[in-house]
Amino acid sequence: MMEATVRETVEQKPERLLDRQVIDDQEAVTAAATVGKPFVEAPKMAMRNVNVFYGEKQAIFDVSMDIGSNEVVSMIGPSGCGKSTFLRALNRMNDTIEGCWIEGSLQLEGQDIYDPKLDVVPLRARVGMVFQKPNPFPKSIYDNVAYGPRIHGLVDRRADLDEVVETSLQRAGLWNEVKDRLAQPGTGLSGGQQQRLCIARTIAVSPEVILMDEPCSALDPIATAKIEELIAELSENFTIAIVTHSMQQAARVSSRTAYFHLGKLIEVNDTEKVFTNPEHELTEAYITGRFG
Ligand SMILES: Nc1ncnc2c1ncn2[C@@H]1O[C@H](COP(=O)(O)OP(=O)(O)O)[C@@H](O)[C@H]1O
Ligand SMILES: [Mg+2]
Repeated sequence: MMEATVRETVEQKPERLLDRQVIDDQEAVTAAATVGKPFVEAPKMAMRNVNVFYGEKQAIFDVSMDIGSNEVVSMIGPSGCGKSTFLRALNRMNDTIEGCWIEGSLQLEGQDIYDPKLDVVPLRARVGMVFQKPNPFPKSIYDNVAYGPRIHGLVDRRADLDEVVETSLQRAGLWNEVKDRLAQPGTGLSGGQQQRLCIARTIAVSPEVILMDEPCSALDPIATAKIEELIAELSENFTIAIVTHSMQQAARVSSRTAYFHLGKLIEVNDTEKVFTNPEHELTEAYITGRFG
């Protein structure tokens, strides 16, 4: 409803005015330093002056913020503003992209996650990731969840592994639906179930932080509602950073919201404030639908 109204307004504007508006936006971005509450006491993760480049092209500009323990932080902003790039920096997933390099300080519980001596495999167990498109391995439901505990050597006995698999599937809200078909392929599940399987696979290695990049964008509303419920439950035990293109979703699941624009972190504030009384004009422009 709101979207339709906004689109009409934009379409009615003469083109010259739109051009001018784009220029104004860029000036506002250039002048921006992050407003609001980017920092918390005793952060789980602390990022300072982070720049990310793809070759010559800079995608993230001087971003500083904290993620608190057991907090759900959402990251919003127009397409291409760097949400995924910043999220991937938090568990060094960008390392897998050729030509991508990072400057600045990123810490997990005070430890530099870009320390060359640090092994990224255990890091990615501590900071797990759930992707936009559910990506179960071509293995059984059981083996999808058992995969992490096996490669990280977390359990020796089959009975212990069974227990980790069951607990993880329960916490992901999937156990009752799959307990009688654990040997069947994970890829045979519905999209929403596959995403919950991927969440079970992520939590099976007891991460401290779970990164989610638009985890519901391939799902129908019912499956989306289940994942959102799950995020609320998981936040009791895990710290969660979620990228979403849905402002409603950010409003429903997160306690703080970070607004990105053209690679800069414009505003971080309590979610309610961001959506009712944003501090920055760019945040306001976004939440009222001026750019999407
Ligand atoms: N693998 C890549 N190689 C080169 N440029 C990229 C790559 N991934 C993203 N970018 C660029 O970085 C910027 C931020 O992209 P991204 O982080 O995907 O934004 P968002 O997730 O907010 O849509 C965009 O300009 C995008 O084109
Ligand atoms: Mg993205």
